[in-house]
Amino acid sequence: MTILNVTGVGKDFRGLRALSEVEFEVGQGEILGIIGPNGAGKTTLFNVICGALAPDTGRVLFAGRDVTGRSPDRIARAGMVRTFQLMRPFGSMSVLENVSLAAQHERQPARRLRERSLEVVERVGLGQWAHRPATELPTAGLKRLELARALAMRPKVLLLDEVLAGLVPAEREPVLDLLADLREQDGTTLLFIEHIMAAVMRLSDRVLVLDQGRVLAAGSAEEVTSDPRVIEAYLGEEPAGAEG
Ligand SMILES: Nc1ncnc2c1ncn2[C@@H]1O[C@H](COP(=O)(O)OP(=O)(O)OP(=O)(O)O)[C@@H](O)[C@H]1O
Ligand SMILES: [Mg+2]
Repeated sequence: MTILNVTGVGKDFRGLRALSEVEFEVGQGEILGIIGPNGAGKTTLFNVICGALAPDTGRVLFAGRDVTGRSPDRIARAGMVRTFQLMRPFGSMSVLENVSLAAQHERQPARRLRERSLEVVERVGLGQWAHRPATELPTAGLKRLELARALAMRPKVLLLDEVLAGLVPAEREPVLDLLADLREQDGTTLLFIEHIMAAVMRLSDRVLVLDQGRVLAAGSAEEVTSDPRVIEAYLGEEPAGAEG
């Protein structure tokens, strides 16, 4: 079953064509990797899908409903949640409070809210940090907090914008395991923007390649990484599966 359907999406920023005729579908429970050079329009695409930006043309259908131009808050409530490339926690609050704030988008008794938030904090591996200020977290911890805040909203579709950036390989592994687990255990559909090709190869069912605002290619990780156009536009001379 198709859970997300993007058709004919275009977005201009004062003459700069950030997205042009972008079309693709994502099946329920699918993991879609999104790759492409810097400035290709990947984050802009997430902004359009999640309601932070209204597209100039095109439509976003979530579970068959047209959500184009709806507020990010309404879209999140409907079950489509994204993480930000740049993390912005409330530093004066503890890790647990940050997660509770996100979990509050669903009305529930205070005790239940606390239990759920703690559960999510533990799931992302921040149990030890629960009561410490978010400002004390190292980069890898902030990334996990960003993920926890998204998970607290119990997404059906989770959009991840470079969750692995800034992490050393040893820190990436548990995050990758968690993402695989989200699909296996919770049936969550994942769209993830990522520059680390090893992660794209390992996690994606399918990969969408954006270049200059357009879909350059789509297919299995093997298909797109051996596509000469993708190699020319993005992968360069690096062997497929290389990190970076
Ligand atoms: N709010 C904005 N106003 C004006 N231009 C923007 C805005 N957001 C993005 N752009 C421009 O749109 C283009 C696409 O940017 P976007 O951030 O979507 O790229 P990206 O693929 O996410 O790149 P990166 O891999 O560096 O994160 C870029 O040229 C960028 O400068
Ligand atoms: Mg980006």
